[in-house]
Amino acid sequence: MEFMSWVWVVNFLSLLYIFPMKTIDLRSDTVTRPSDGMYEAMRVAEVGDDVLGDDPTVKLLQQKVASLFDREDALYVPSGTMANQIALKVSSQPGWELLCDRECHVVNYEVAGPVVHSSLLINLLTTDRGMVTAEMVRQSIRPINLHCPLTKMVTLENTHNRHGGTILPQEEIISVRQVCDEFGLHLHLDGARIWNAHVATGIPLSELTRPFHTISVCLSKGLGAPIGSVIVGTKEFISKCLRERKLFGGGMRQVGFLAAAGLYALENNIDRLKEDHANARMLAEELSTFDCFEIDLSRVETNIVIIDLVNDMTADELLTKINNVGVLAVPFGPKRIRMVTHLDLSAEDCRDAIERLRSVLS
Ligand SMILES: Cc1ncc(COP(=O)(O)O)c(C=O)c1O
Repeated sequence: MEFMSWVWVVNFLSLLYIFPMKTIDLRSDTVTRPSDGMYEAMRVAEVGDDVLGDDPTVKLLQQKVASLFDREDALYVPSGTMANQIALKVSSQPGWELLCDRECHVVNYEVAGPVVHSSLLINLLTTDRGMVTAEMVRQSIRPINLHCPLTKMVTLENTHNRHGGTILPQEEIISVRQVCDEFGLHLHLDGARIWNAHVATGIPLSELTRPFHTISVCLSKGLGAPIGSVIVGTKEFISKCLRERKLFGGGMRQVGFLAAAGLYALENNIDRLKEDHANARMLAEELSTFDCFEIDLSRVETNIVIIDLVNDMTADELLTKINNVGVLAVPFGPKRIRMVTHLDLSAEDCRDAIERLRSVLS
């Protein structure tokens, strides 16, 4: 039987619930479910009231993350958005100008947080692959006079989500920090996927993040924890973040069972990210041979694949078509979609996704 008809037979049987077809969910690396090992770690976690500072597992997680990044202290928070927004708020004054890439998460997907929480003026810079360069920072700093806002902050995102999981060049990050030091700017990292940059480059986490004053990292993206991010920095900065977390309503009580999932993720799920990178590469290479797709393979450095549609289909039409054969992705523009590989998808699942797409698009 030809493969195309085989896919349709499986699809038909799946519709009749005779032989359910596995949904291949490539929408994000946030869609993963805790593994049995992670659940067990959560079940046996020692807990206490973390708002009172007595949860031993949360303390352990914070110590572990601080030491991974070679920093004095760390704070567990519910989400990456809260981590970024608290870090920006604690490091700024109302009216400061923040420089960042036009496509960054902090501005595009955090509901105007920098404006609402910190009253920051945002200067969006158009970059190649998400890198706000040292020269761009230098050129963007306004003169100090009675009239101009104070340009005082830069935020970078590594890896960069909307640019396709691109890794920022380390030498350039170091140069950005030099300009920040020269002009007294604060440098923040949205490191939701810094783990991917670490595994892809082999550069230790502490070295990758050394140029930044403050760092936020996520446990709930590629690492597969159900929830949780961590803010990392000096003791003084983290003590201010603790107060701000309470203000944001992010103080949690017996939350050690969730922190245990984070600890499990750090111990078991960092090195395996290379499998996600290999799967993204395979998806990108195969899908780039489809007539209707254009993919910049040079951007597929980690676990994200951005696909441009070069026929007359819109992103929404394409997504409906592929949803019908059990493949999920997200729109990333009127003619652009994003696919993300993660720990709940094997190489075989990705090959299966490619064949399902071939069956509906050829
Ligand atoms: C680069 C980046 N930063 C921050 C976040 C925010 O994380 P959360 O969804 O936990 O708020 C995300 C979420 O996808 C992200 O991709």
